[in-house]
Amino acid sequence: MAENSAAPNLRGMVAGETKLCTVGKEGTGLHYRGYDIHELAEHATFEEVAYLLLYGELPNRGQLREYNARLRGQRQLPQALKEVLERLPSAAHPMDVMRTGCSVLGVLEAEQSFAQQHAVADRLLAALPGILTYWYRYSHDGVRVDPATEDDSIGAQFLHLLHGTRPNPLHEKVMHVSLILYAEHEFNASTFTARVCASTQSDMHSCIGGAIGSLRGPLHGGANEAAMAMLEQWSDPDEAERAVLQKLECKNKVMGFGHAIYRTQDPRNAIIKAWSRKLAAEVGDRSLYPISERVEEVMWREKRLFANADFYHAPAYHFMGIPTKLFTPIFVLSRITGWCAHVMEQRESRHIIRPSAKYTGPQPRPWVPIQDRG
Ligand code: COA
Repeated sequence: MAENSAAPNLRGMVAGETKLCTVGKEGTGLHYRGYDIHELAEHATFEEVAYLLLYGELPNRGQLREYNARLRGQRQLPQALKEVLERLPSAAHPMDVMRTGCSVLGVLEAEQSFAQQHAVADRLLAALPGILTYWYRYSHDGVRVDPATEDDSIGAQFLHLLHGTRPNPLHEKVMHVSLILYAEHEFNASTFTARVCASTQSDMHSCIGGAIGSLRGPLHGGANEAAMAMLEQWSDPDEAERAVLQKLECKNKVMGFGHAIYRTQDPRNAIIKAWSRKLAAEVGDRSLYPISERVEEVMWREKRLFANADFYHAPAYHFMGIPTKLFTPIFVLSRITGWCAHVMEQRESRHIIRPSAKYTGPQPRPWVPIQDRG
């Protein structure tokens, strides 16, 4: 096969086929299995979108009722997993906890054959909120939560376990929207990691563990946490504007802006921004939301850089009382759907992903005996 000169980092290269998602192409710029993200975020529940991604079509009423019940019935964690989570310190990186929880579940409930892959995906989807909150509440508050809540949705279950009370309808709706927006995004780094692992015919838990590891890196997940840490430093919009101008002058990145594929806007931004505004009104915020809007204005005015999905997620999660360190793990609670769907799709191909590298090392040279090496 002829050697091509691939773009560095595979940027812009088509690295495979997918039926799951288009990014930056037709319509408003993001579609899951042909459905526009705006319509999904407005009308669907997260569980409907999970079903769409994992099973190929939107569920009908009966299928959705059955799916919700199935997921609810799988929230409990094995005792051995709870014991492991209790051993993990409060200072642990929450993404390490997610990776470990996934791995332990994979030991205790190993995927025996690919025929089980949908069951394994559903189990991970149902168990991950419990894994995160069981560790968080035990290590931070000394509380052993019972993951098997009766909440109608995954987002409500997460908030319930985190705060100890059922969320109000606004918060439950925002969680649906947020989890839908984060569910799938084509061949991003963590999904590609999962697909490379899947191409070796490995098990689902290994693919997902690898994906969590990729998402953990600050260049991928983590921008919503970084945006929150940045916004919290400023007390009013004028101070924020001065600081942003200074960052731009020093060529520092402003977190939550820009995107590798979208060029003029991130279609997810307007959606989460609108919900963030509603949450700001609910809590009577007069600081964080106006600061966020000013930063967005300045970035567009100065650099034509637009807010990406992560930017307004920061104030939205903050207004719902979610600790900043849990922002990136919420991404996992959602993206588990896209990852598992990609693993299943990759498994159909039966070919291992194995690119080549352009060699830049020494030319062939003779062996040097150890006594002659200086
Ligand atoms: N703040 C300030 N400047 C930015 C910027 C940001 N968030 N994002 C891009 N730029 C600048 C770059 O410095 C570069 O300027 P230069 O041409 O003078 O060197 C130019 O815009 C192009 O940026 P580049 O890094 O080539 O864009 P990219 O498409 O390779 O990278 C991101 C995309 C997402 C990695 C990048 O925008 C970024 O790091 N954003 C912040 C982190 C973030 O929000 N990540 C979540 C993504 S969903």
